[in-house]
Amino acid sequence: MSKKLIKKKDLYFPSKEFKKNALINKKSIYKEAEKSQIKFWEKLAKELFWFKKWKKVFVHKPPYFQWFTGGKINITSNIFENNSKGFEKIKNKVALIWEPEPVNEQSRTFTYAELYAEVNRFANALKKMGVKKGDKVGIYLPMIPEAIVSMLACARIGAIHVVVFSAFSPTALRVRLQDTEAKVLITADGYNRRGKVVDLKKNADEGMKDTKVKKAIVIKRAENKVRMKKGRDFWWNDLKKDQSDFCKAEIMDAEDILFILYTSGSTGKPKGTVQACGGYTVQAKFTGKYIFDFQNSDIFWSTADVGWITGHTYSCYSPLLNAATYLIFEGAPGWPKPNRWAKIIEKYKVTIFYTAPTAIRMFAKFGLDILKGIRFNTLRLIGSVGEPIDESAWMWYFEKVGKQSCPVVDTWWQTETGGILITSLPGIGPFKPCFTGLPFPGTKFKILNDRGRECKTGERGNLVLLPPFTPGLLRGVYKNPKRYLKTYWSQYGKKIYFTSDAAYKDKNGLIRVVGRVDDVMKVAGHRLSTGEMEDSISKIDYINECAVIGMPDQIKGEVPAVFLVLKKNAVEKKRFTEDIYKEIQLKVRKEIGPIAGIKKVFVVEDLPKTRSGKIMRRILKRLFTGEPLGDLSTLANADSVQKIKEVIKLSD
Ligand code: WTA
Repeated sequence: MSKKLIKKKDLYFPSKEFKKNALINKKSIYKEAEKSQIKFWEKLAKELFWFKKWKKVFVHKPPYFQWFTGGKINITSNIFENNSKGFEKIKNKVALIWEPEPVNEQSRTFTYAELYAEVNRFANALKKMGVKKGDKVGIYLPMIPEAIVSMLACARIGAIHVVVFSAFSPTALRVRLQDTEAKVLITADGYNRRGKVVDLKKNADEGMKDTKVKKAIVIKRAENKVRMKKGRDFWWNDLKKDQSDFCKAEIMDAEDILFILYTSGSTGKPKGTVQACGGYTVQAKFTGKYIFDFQNSDIFWSTADVGWITGHTYSCYSPLLNAATYLIFEGAPGWPKPNRWAKIIEKYKVTIFYTAPTAIRMFAKFGLDILKGIRFNTLRLIGSVGEPIDESAWMWYFEKVGKQSCPVVDTWWQTETGGILITSLPGIGPFKPCFTGLPFPGTKFKILNDRGRECKTGERGNLVLLPPFTPGLLRGVYKNPKRYLKTYWSQYGKKIYFTSDAAYKDKNGLIRVVGRVDDVMKVAGHRLSTGEMEDSISKIDYINECAVIGMPDQIKGEVPAVFLVLKKNAVEKKRFTEDIYKEIQLKVRKEIGPIAGIKKVFVVEDLPKTRSGKIMRRILKRLFTGEPLGDLSTLANADSVQKIKEVIKLSD
């Protein structure tokens, strides 16, 4: 039987064989879910282990809502001792494979039983340190198994984890520790990145200043010489040495907070999105089951770092809840050679691969030579996430990696949604380049114009999610109800969740997500806010005003470009743009991290503004995308645009 996908006009469908074996392969699932979304999710929730069943499935008090009200659960019980597959059956199965960055270093694996013991020991160690249910624990770790163990240990005892991406700067770490008032921070002595050791502990020390962190737990990873502060810093191994390998799971209310994860929004300050224990567990488990079709023999690799939501859900919770075997990788996918990622697929016989368009474009750039002799024949399903995937990257992925036999699940979701919400299901399809697919069963999306009217087929508008939303949708912005209301529930009222994405539908109802309509950028799939960067840059003393925009980039999707207006005296000094560029680069690296690398700096006389003084970033962006600039007569200083065009031209 041919394994190749079946093509009908511009759509692809799974092969007969794939369809036959897929966990979900009947179109009727959509109809069934549509009849009652609430009942659909309830049925799924029933497959999990609850200490106590819920009283109500969905309660709506706009803009707030609850799922599984009154239910009691612990996500780690559902991963381990009460896993729906039966713990006895999965105990000796490999749960986690870790590939270190150095090629000659041994990998590590953990069976479900080993991971369970490790999580329990560490949970007990945290308890001994005084961590209690509801306390916040910062996690500032690279992709090492201890990152997974730390998250699960927190969940085990009901502590709320606040994971901070390890490549974020000390300032970014501090902001998150301060906002959550975390008492404990888990970090490491360093890690490997592109052949160098990053001194993570130094950054952690800096980030802990002026916070409420009383204790730090340090993992020995890089054998990097670090300073341990007496009474505050403890080695991970010392702490868990004498701990028992059993720790009772804390009984959590379905609506208790499982974790807080910070993400960029339209303003300078990142927002702490809040996830609930019950809803998130249901969302993580079943989106994984339906979309990645986790089967007993699968080896799943999600390249996402746990510092982002994709890492939380698909590099940690979802594969474990589904009793799958999965892989995490410490390093950069192109290190030491551009084919490292392909070699990892071959080495571990990966069957399901999940990555971002930026990585796909980078792999494609190196050409097929680098893939010579590498076998991908174990792959059966491939996925993409984080940014729109263009047709050529999609086709390259589909043909060269998936060999036309692997369904491509292009998955749309957000930090706020907790799990994937739009994609084609692999056993059903259809798959179409650039289109993410259909809403996940049990969810209802619409595309509305600015006045709230539903858009016609092909017409672009704002993507919104309708009640009952989804169990994994955020429950709030930590300590900031005003921002929660303003960001998500003000555009179309308190009953419609506004995604901040533009999208349109084709005649089959497949959704294409075009990009953000707010001031959020996706740089190499990483979510950054223009406001956050502007805040850092404005701190430089000779800068009068600035505007950051996402400029199109062939590999990274978007890269930040800065438009600057200098203070008068600085202009007189005739500073060189090159020096300014260096200074700005340093500033954003210090305040945000290396991922916020600025691509271009343009020194201009004036920024385009409305009469009320609002900077029109949209117009600046269009100078690069080639879209029509629109009506400039509403600007207070329309002539600034022509001058800026000249500056851009000169810099080419
Ligand atoms: C974008 C990442 C097109 C979108 C999981 C969204 C996508 C933002 C896709 C959320 C996709 C995510 N196609 N765009 N498949 N997936 N996006 O919070 O703009 O880092 O709003 O979550 O990424 O980014 P976040």
